[in-house]
Amino acid sequence: MSLTVVCGGFWGDEGKGKILSYLALKDVPSIVVRAGVGTNAGHTILFQNKEYKLRMVPSGFVNPDIRLLIGAGVLVDPKVLLKEIDETNTHECLGVDYQSGIIEEQHIEIDSTNAHLKGKIGTTGSGTGPANVDRVLRKLKLAKDIPQLEPYLTDVSIEINDALNEGKAVQAEGSQAILLSLYHGSYPYVTSKDTSAAAICSDIGVGPTKVSDVMVVMKSFITRVGTGELPGELSKEEVEKRGWTEYGAVTGRLRRAAPFNYDLAKKAVRLNGATQIALTKLDIIFPEIAKANDTDLIKGNIAEFIDKIEEATKIKVSIIGTGPAAEDIIDLRENG
Ligand code: IMP
Ligand code: MG
Repeated sequence: MSLTVVCGGFWGDEGKGKILSYLALKDVPSIVVRAGVGTNAGHTILFQNKEYKLRMVPSGFVNPDIRLLIGAGVLVDPKVLLKEIDETNTHECLGVDYQSGIIEEQHIEIDSTNAHLKGKIGTTGSGTGPANVDRVLRKLKLAKDIPQLEPYLTDVSIEINDALNEGKAVQAEGSQAILLSLYHGSYPYVTSKDTSAAAICSDIGVGPTKVSDVMVVMKSFITRVGTGELPGELSKEEVEKRGWTEYGAVTGRLRRAAPFNYDLAKKAVRLNGATQIALTKLDIIFPEIAKANDTDLIKGNIAEFIDKIEEATKIKVSIIGTGPAAEDIIDLRENG
């Protein structure tokens, strides 16, 4: 039995999509299941020279042998989902929980015009916050109420627990990240739900006793879109000079940036109960390892940076991202 939960370490956009697509190709879990808030997330995946920005379909689509699921805690925008299913050709392997909540036009309208949400908080405007409000008010539509979703409906909790009981591997993908958690993040500049590893379990209907590993994804520098604190934030000019400029996958907004923060890394490991770290975009800080797969390149300043992270967090950096493609990885796990 093995359930790996993959979660975000800072304010999102750590490169979860890339790590997840690598793990799907390398470890070939039976199921990859999407957790998290909903279409506010955008997982960027570069696979076979094509770039995907997925807001609904799990990153495991890169491997056609994998069953792809969306948990009951995830908000589904049927338009976005159906389009992505076509784009990724996942009609045969994708399932949505009967009880996933549905984002409707009025939720998007509020989220993208409301002065508090759009103006003050700087939401993605995808309708997720207002849809979660309706869920709490117990008037939100669920996936089982939508005829176009009928072919995909399933009980995600049963599928996952059955697979685990049969000794199969399951990979759960979180979205957003711990510092955007409604409970543990930089409130009020956060998303509309908890985003911890525990919340990921709840989103997909598994208990904490089933988790074998929690991998927290951290980028080698920190970015944030929207409003709220960002310790060590650099000026736009400095960000550009360092080559750290990024744009949001969902909103296209310029991401604010700051250097890696060891205290925040410690906090992310504590709140998620993380057992290992996937460190992404190390090639942006150390161009000499761009697209590398070779562990021998981890020496000098690179080794020092990794040692410092491991010392601060007391867990291992087990996977290193060295470029945008799924295979641009140095895998330090025993079986890697
Ligand atoms: P909401 O989740 O759209 O309500 O937005 C609330 C805050 O979370 C805003 O600062 C968003 O920019 C941020 N946010 C939500 N989802 C993501 C994500 O997937 N990546 C990065 N930031 C996100
Ligand atoms: Mg993203």
